[in-house]
Amino acid sequence: MGHHRLVWVLGLLLNLGNASGEWIHFDSKGLTSIPDDIEPTVDLLYCSKNNISAIHRSDFNDKYPDLYYITLTDNIITSIESGCFRGTILTSIFLTRNQLTAFPDFHEVKDYLKHVFIAKNLITNISRGEVDYLTKMTELILQDNPIVQLPEITKLGLPVLKLLDLRGIEMDCCSSNVWLKRTPDILVLHLDYLPCSTPSKWTATPWMDITEDMLLQHNCGKTIPAGSSYHMYNDEEFWENPFEFQSERFFRDDSGLVSASHSNRRYLMSFGAGRRVCLGEALAKGRLFLVIASLMHKFDIFIGEVLVLSSAPFEIVTKERLSN
Ligand code: HEM
Repeated sequence: MGHHRLVWVLGLLLNLGNASGEWIHFDSKGLTSIPDDIEPTVDLLYCSKNNISAIHRSDFNDKYPDLYYITLTDNIITSIESGCFRGTILTSIFLTRNQLTAFPDFHEVKDYLKHVFIAKNLITNISRGEVDYLTKMTELILQDNPIVQLPEITKLGLPVLKLLDLRGIEMDCCSSNVWLKRTPDILVLHLDYLPCSTPSKWTATPWMDITEDMLLQHNCGKTIPAGSSYHMYNDEEFWENPFEFQSERFFRDDSGLVSASHSNRRYLMSFGAGRRVCLGEALAKGRLFLVIASLMHKFDIFIGEVLVLSSAPFEIVTKERLSN
């Protein structure tokens, strides 16, 4: 039996889908992007071991209606444009050993995608919204990514997820990861034998000996008082004397402003950050610019001199406009 036929039969056995169409091989061809002259009837596309650095919408969208299997293992992919793969029926994608820093957007193939292999990339954060729509996904392989933030996958409503591979991921064994001990029977979880990188007392404790109670009793990171950005501004480990007004934190010895890359400037988030960032930032900055510019325009300001600012006396009369 020839090589091709053997793979075909294997494909059938593995239930990879309709294996009657075209298998196109571009492995180890020195490609730097997806070729644009692929047969439109392609079913399986092999592009491993190349130098492809990015996947664009124009590479796949509305071109390959039968395409259900893509291997891009061992490339140098750093980005996959969102909205990719439209018009394909992609069920399996292999992206192992690339340089992705974010989980790709698979919305266009959410009704088909079953197998996502994205091991050995550079992904640090995965948010809920990046995976919760993949309701047909059965395998999610995240092995050996430097992940520090992962949502509670089991609470995302992924009804057919059968395999979650988190080997080689340094885990903080603390209360927010207790879900890993409570996985449903249908889900096989692959973790390292010794997965805890913190707390240090558990680095030599096998996962099977870590109990739910142990995890629950160990708080993750710092406790931030509810409803505030307290630590962002008051962390005494970072800001020496955080409660003192010390503008010199931001000045060099020669009185110039420290550079934008200086940690004191990088960590100064006067308007907060993320989803609760100040809504009035643009307005406030615009007004501050005008106020400060007006002051600079009208006054000479010296250290040690007394500056008294007061408003002119004024009177306001308010009158109800619609009074019957
Ligand atoms: C220099 C002036 C201002 C500073 C330093 C400032 C700073 C902040 C900070 C630190 C937060 C909290 C962010 C967080 O929770 O992480 C915040 C939130 C907020 N700010 Fe400001 N702000 C200023 C002016 C304004 C103005 C002028 C407005 C409205 C016109 C405004 C509207 C808001 C709102 C609505 C929030 C709550 C956002 C949310 O929780 O979703 N701010 N601001």
